Amino acid sequence: MKYPLSRGTKDILPEEMPFWHYIETASRSLFDLYNYQEIRTPIFEVTDLFERGIGNSTDIVEKEMYTFTDKGDRRLTLRPEGTAPIVRAYIHNGLYKKEKTSKLYYCGPMFRYERPQAGRFRQFHQIGVENLGNAHPFSDAEVISLGVHLFDELGLSGLSVSVNSVGCPVCRPVIEERLKQFIGGSLPFLCEDCQRRFHTKPLRILDCKKPTCKTYFSAMPNIQDSHCHECRDHFNSVIEYIDSLGIPFKIDTQLVRGLDYYTRTTFEIVSDQLGAQNTICGGGRYDGLVDQIGGPPTPAVGFAFGVERAVMVLKELSDLIKKKDPLIFVAPLGFAQQTRCFYLVDELRRAGLKCEMDYSKSDIKSQLKQANKLQTEFTLIYGESEAEKNTILVKHMVEGKQVEIPWENIVEYLHHEHQRLQNASDLTNR
Ligand code: HAM
Repeated sequence: MKYPLSRGTKDILPEEMPFWHYIETASRSLFDLYNYQEIRTPIFEVTDLFERGIGNSTDIVEKEMYTFTDKGDRRLTLRPEGTAPIVRAYIHNGLYKKEKTSKLYYCGPMFRYERPQAGRFRQFHQIGVENLGNAHPFSDAEVISLGVHLFDELGLSGLSVSVNSVGCPVCRPVIEERLKQFIGGSLPFLCEDCQRRFHTKPLRILDCKKPTCKTYFSAMPNIQDSHCHECRDHFNSVIEYIDSLGIPFKIDTQLVRGLDYYTRTTFEIVSDQLGAQNTICGGGRYDGLVDQIGGPPTPAVGFAFGVERAVMVLKELSDLIKKKDPLIFVAPLGFAQQTRCFYLVDELRRAGLKCEMDYSKSDIKSQLKQANKLQTEFTLIYGESEAEKNTILVKHMVEGKQVEIPWENIVEYLHHEHQRLQNASDLTNR
């Protein structure tokens, strides 16, 4: 292959597109219901935003960023996630001055230089929400509930929710000190990353996925035992609210997530339909991030889910979105009839009727073959005898009948017949 696909990327082909549209449409309409508004930010940002925002000791910043220098000698990075850019835009555009709270959502490609495998790409897509300006634990519960509601709406089953609290700047040093005391003796047996993080960000060690390291973490002290009063109260309220909302969840005291900005609540939604990369959605509270990257102190909470992973689960579960809109095929018989059919196709489309014509064909056999292949609802046949009578022959592909219609009535007839078939199919599907 002269130009192979770049490793870790994929083409999203038309046959997969209905799943993407289904997810995007359902997300937009649900976010609107919860009063979130869409925001779009650039695909690249200054590198420093991610180094400061996501944290220097995270896998993303240490190993996974697509960073380059542009022709003006600026260090730029393809965004590896959406939260830091949204917060940058929130500050840059002074959104905090306009409203007390900003509820924003976004969809788009993200980039991480990770080892590709099923469900893990170097270019992938996230859909996420960020709720800025709300400190109340109701907002953590609302964000978790929105994620669960969205996956319910999409018809995804086999999902489970895990929640934790990683504390705040008051209790984090206590948590980290206890972890260090516990891990200290096993340090030489842990991986290089864990050894380094022991000195820089001990909490990050809990995020290590290597099985050898994980064996040392099983008897780890529960980080929630070191929470300050405020963090304990906040967490208890969050789990009380999500419980009252009827959301099944489990508490995972080692869920620290791979980004440094989290304070208090962290959560993930995991699917039993995916392999090793089974986390479909992750999020949490990040009360320090706005302040840290130059804005006013602003509490915030949000989540993002991976669209590729959601599509993978949907494909396993459903046939329902493979249905295509019915199509009309226009078949001129002989090249002399083509020009009038070309204008008819334009007229039908302007009247809202989806149609197709093959300019390279003019015989009945190959055009009917093509109409069958396209699974059209109607095929319009226009030959010499129809031209003489100023009519067109409508072949009903499903019902098999043929009806000759005066040329000037064709749009009205097709609209009417399409609606009739639609009503009949709605009745049988009921
Ligand atoms: P994250 O856990 O890094 O969180 O990513 C969220 C989701 O993006 C993951 O659960 C996964 O479905 C998807 N994802 C991540 N990396 C890949 C990859 N390489 N290939 C395919 N899918 C992937 C964040 O990014 C946070 N910004 C979420 C957040 C929003 N927290 C608060 N607000």
